[in-house]
Amino acid sequence: MRRLSSAIVVLGITALVTLPAAAQTTTTAPQPPPPMTNLQVYPKDTPRPEIVATMQGFVQALGVQSAGGCGYCHAGTAPTFDFAADAKPTKTVARKMILMSREITAKLPDVTGKPAADVTRIRCATCHRGVAIPKLLPDILTETVNKGGSAAAVQQYRDLRKQYYGAQAYDFSENALAFLGQQLTAANKPDDALALLQLNAEYYPNHPATYGMMAQAYMRKNDKENAIKNLEKAVQLDPNNQQAKRQLEQLKK
Ligand code: HEC
Ligand code: HEC
Repeated sequence: MRRLSSAIVVLGITALVTLPAAAQTTTTAPQPPPPMTNLQVYPKDTPRPEIVATMQGFVQALGVQSAGGCGYCHAGTAPTFDFAADAKPTKTVARKMILMSREITAKLPDVTGKPAADVTRIRCATCHRGVAIPKLLPDILTETVNKGGSAAAVQQYRDLRKQYYGAQAYDFSENALAFLGQQLTAANKPDDALALLQLNAEYYPNHPATYGMMAQAYMRKNDKENAIKNLEKAVQLDPNNQQAKRQLEQLKK
């Protein structure tokens, strides 16, 4: 009985307290956002603008503007997100990622022998560089070669390049595919290597190393004629390439 009556009193008080505030909001400014209730990593009294700025940094670092923005991690839909809810697995992962980033930063002084003030602070973007799953381009393409063949990898490169060229997400420089071609030849996949090296030559027709790598792939296939052709191209583009010159002399013997 006692408990019930005190509950009634509490209810009465809250009603009294909230009424004027509610009346005010209907006539003037929009309702202030509710206080934050589920901060587990950041200090609970962090000012809201600071949290929101950090969150905008997350959206940027993971490049999820067009993948839901805040909704990539938060339940609900704009503009009525339930920021406090932990319904989305991405939010739970993100919380652990904050802690992981701190742990790595904390280890750096020991690992590098530098004072704590001098080491790099690990941020989301240090790894993510504008993508939610930060995988390096050669690794993405190698997986595709292994699963779907080199034609699928060629198409994937074109698509990623269209979407991300000029962003920090992936290395589309002339050396990236040339290096991958070299690795595929070393892994005894000269045909896959050639598909990607030909693609590189399409974007970078004057990159000598690409033709050098093609020559290596043809040699792996015992295709002497095409190996010579590509070595000649490499030497033509870079007359100082002694290695290509030597290989050319050997092949022509
Ligand atoms: C990559 C995932 C991710 C994205 C994207 C993200 N958030 Fe968050 N958000 C989190 C995590 C994790 C927490 C919890 C932090 C903690 O526990 O201290 C959080 C907490 C919050 C909170 C506090 C909620 C409460 O009551 O405890 C607010 C407000 C918030 N986010 C707003 C935003 C806004 C606005 C955006 C878009 C600009 C956004 N978030 C985008 C991961 C994300
Ligand atoms: C040391 C590197 C590193 C740092 C720093 C880092 N992440 Fe990650 N994060 C990764 C990797 C790698 C993955 C992908 C794991 C996988 O293979 O699925 C990932 C995945 C995620 C995912 C899941 C994405 C999905 O769609 O599955 C979220 C969310 C995320 N990170 C948020 C963050 C946030 C927020 C920060 C900064 C507080 C951060 N990460 C910092 C490496 C990092």
